[in-house]
Amino acid sequence: MARIVGGITTSHVPAIGGAIAKGLQSDPYWKPFFDGFVPVRHWLSEVRPDVAVVFYNDHGLNFFLDKMPTFAIGAADEYKNADEGWGLPVYKPFLGHPALSWHIIETLVAKEFDVTTCQEMLVDHAMSIPFELAWPDADALPVKIVPIAINTVQHPLPSARRCLALGRAVQAALTSWEGAERVVVMGTGGLSHQLDGQRAGFINKEYDRFCLDNLVNNPDALTTHSIHEIVALSGTQGVEILNWIAARGAMGATAKETHCNYHIPISNTAAATMLMEVP
Ligand code: DHB
Ligand code: FE
Repeated sequence: MARIVGGITTSHVPAIGGAIAKGLQSDPYWKPFFDGFVPVRHWLSEVRPDVAVVFYNDHGLNFFLDKMPTFAIGAADEYKNADEGWGLPVYKPFLGHPALSWHIIETLVAKEFDVTTCQEMLVDHAMSIPFELAWPDADALPVKIVPIAINTVQHPLPSARRCLALGRAVQAALTSWEGAERVVVMGTGGLSHQLDGQRAGFINKEYDRFCLDNLVNNPDALTTHSIHEIVALSGTQGVEILNWIAARGAMGATAKETHCNYHIPISNTAAATMLMEVP
């Protein structure tokens, strides 16, 4: 049985990578966001997970609008990053854990989540930025990853309820895994933001607060809104909260909040970071 040690949810704004590249972590614009990662790094250095199961969304690097799986799981030895056009460095590749990926895939399909399996997969800023924040300056990452991509881009999107159920099914898969790996669950994206259209720049503190206040102890509250209600409340890209909801499901019922940071804005986004521990 894998041991789920806790979870990290965070925004994945590409400009964070630009700030890291320029060494701007202590700049007044960036400091309130980067400071929110100090307790996360401290916790990671104590619990030393072996594997990260990461719920995120692809932004066109691996899947484009012509082919868009609702749920896609990587089952590769390695996942490369590539240039997305944000002017960021190409980040180091991630090591995979294909045996655990296949166990999760088999468990999910048995539970009637008919996922897409990816034996080759590029991962974009939604994967790389959170890892640069969590393990800065690491020549090689100390964890292997299982990437789980949720479609938050091309409608129709999966419901929040379905994403929470997906996360709970991943938790069941981790619990039935034969290995003893220590697993951190991650969810990336959000919080409220809209990059396009007439509402570009839209941010909704009230809805973000609702999500932060309920995610840990009452995640089902986040599933009471339909996808179109979530888009109205959080913006066309704020719907990336689906990744947080799925990650929360995978942490299990006993997860406890130990840290939360909320800061407006980073680029176009209300940025947030949460740390949850599983006792
Ligand atoms: C921004 C936020 C995102 O989630 C993203 O994927 C790209 C850009 C932004 O705020 O600039
Ligand atoms: Fe995004």
